[in-house]
Amino acid sequence: MPTTFVAVSNPPPLYIITPTYRRPEQLAELTRLGYTLKHVPNLLWLVIEDANHTNRLVAQTLNRIGVPYEYLVAPMPEQYKKTKRAKPRGVSNRNRGLDYLRANATEGVLYFADDDNTYDINIFEQMRYTKKVSMWPVGLVTKTGVSSPIIRNGKLDGYYDGWLGGRKYPVDMAGFAVSVKFLHTRPNATMPFKPGYEEDGFLRSLAPLQNTEIELLADECRDILTWHTQTKKNPAAQVLNKRYVNTNLEFIDKLLVRP
Ligand code: UGA
Ligand code: MN
Repeated sequence: MPTTFVAVSNPPPLYIITPTYRRPEQLAELTRLGYTLKHVPNLLWLVIEDANHTNRLVAQTLNRIGVPYEYLVAPMPEQYKKTKRAKPRGVSNRNRGLDYLRANATEGVLYFADDDNTYDINIFEQMRYTKKVSMWPVGLVTKTGVSSPIIRNGKLDGYYDGWLGGRKYPVDMAGFAVSVKFLHTRPNATMPFKPGYEEDGFLRSLAPLQNTEIELLADECRDILTWHTQTKKNPAAQVLNKRYVNTNLEFIDKLLVRP
């Protein structure tokens, strides 16, 4: 069973929304992220799988880590699954997380943490006090090597990112947090199913939001505390040869993603 989460007000609670989906790397990614989050107090981890049903192996992994969590599902709509073009990955999952917070949270801060990225726990202590929206640099994004707000004369003065794409907020998913109270004042805020424009669409849906209201973290955006890392994609493991029946490999077999 998950560790029950009873939010306390001090320090403000953190709600970490993590989209995930079944693939050979899934349990490894969740293990790595989970033990990072274990260093962070007063945190609820919302693990939301792009699937029709929860998976016992994921639940076992989350239980073993011992971070308070909710494990929910939110499948990508069929129309997007079928497309040969870029898919809106993790969007139904994140919107499910927003619904959960609207129903269950009153204060604190939400953050979208993809399962494959890398997080310095210092960013969690900084984002906790977000009043509306906070932002900071994210390493390893696009040809510029970093995606970051630009600060000139102490003020937010645009964004540095290798792909601007006509976005008002050319930022990475790992580079911003939003206050739960502020979310409650924006009941229609949602993430669009629009590849490349997920962050921009969500942040725009929080309007009105003045640039001067965006809090700049990570040493006023001079430091990198989150990275958009990617794990090498691994093929599904081959089917277990019958000669291994009645060995430990039968147990291991149940943990692996097979073709
Ligand atoms: C980038 C952005 O960081 C994502 O936030 C954005 O959703 C995605 O591009 C996009 O534009 O589609 P990237 O690293 O390229 O992310 O994508 P993934 O890491 O493969 O997926 C992002 C998140 O969605 C992950 O947490 C992943 O577990 C989840 N995901 C991915 C699903 O739930 N379903 C999928 O089919 C694929
Ligand atoms: Mn990723």
